[in-house]
Amino acid sequence: MGNKNISMAVIRRLPKYYRYLADLLSKDVQRISSKELSEIIGFTASQIRQDLNNFGGFGQQGYGYNVEALHKEIGKILGLDRKYRAILIGAGNLGQALTNYTGFRLAGFETIAVFDANPKMIGLKIRDFEIMDSDNVEEFVRENDVDIACIPKNGAQLVADKLVRAGIKGIWNFAPIDLEVPSDIIVENVNLTESLFTLSYLMKENLEG
Ligand code: NAI
Repeated sequence: MGNKNISMAVIRRLPKYYRYLADLLSKDVQRISSKELSEIIGFTASQIRQDLNNFGGFGQQGYGYNVEALHKEIGKILGLDRKYRAILIGAGNLGQALTNYTGFRLAGFETIAVFDANPKMIGLKIRDFEIMDSDNVEEFVRENDVDIACIPKNGAQLVADKLVRAGIKGIWNFAPIDLEVPSDIIVENVNLTESLFTLSYLMKENLEG
């Protein structure tokens, strides 16, 4: 199924559907109406029907959605029916926290190596990973079938250029810069500070009524 025309707004909601459906599955809920789903997720029932119709609509009139089928289908749409091999560049505070979090592997994103530029860090261990010299990252990506790289701030563009040359397909970018990459390389920016700014705005609105 080609999903090229699906809007980013819908795509951004899919992980949330996936997460809530996984939760329902773990509670042995077998089917759910768009109205019930809407009460849990917080999107309107019509929004939910509209979103899911983008992919052919999995619901049946009078029955609602089969939770397991919908979860599986959204997983497929998100590309979660496969595993991803990831590397992490920059083994400082953030890199260590990300490496130590086991949830990513459970979700299918396996870190296979961690790199740093600082000679004092190279050779140290985070979990089972011996930190490798980031000078060797290009060669590593070429030889190890790496799908995703998570990258730091210092020299992020230079690091990205190396990764692209080596054949990386996706970049999970924590650096607060807009990376320039060819159009077939996917960059997903993560910015916790922006998220805090949103929190600040909503709290301010709340206080001001
Ligand atoms: P840190 O100073 O503890 O660690 C950075 C590590 O990356 C150091 O070990 C350093 O040697 C290594 N490094 C830097 N440039 C490198 C390069 N080009 N190649 C290989 N290794 C390199 O810093 P921390 O607290 O872990 O933050 C890392 C970066 O992540 C910062 O630039 C910060 O702005 C960013 N950050 C982004 C967040 C987000 O939500 N997007 C949240 C927190 C931090």
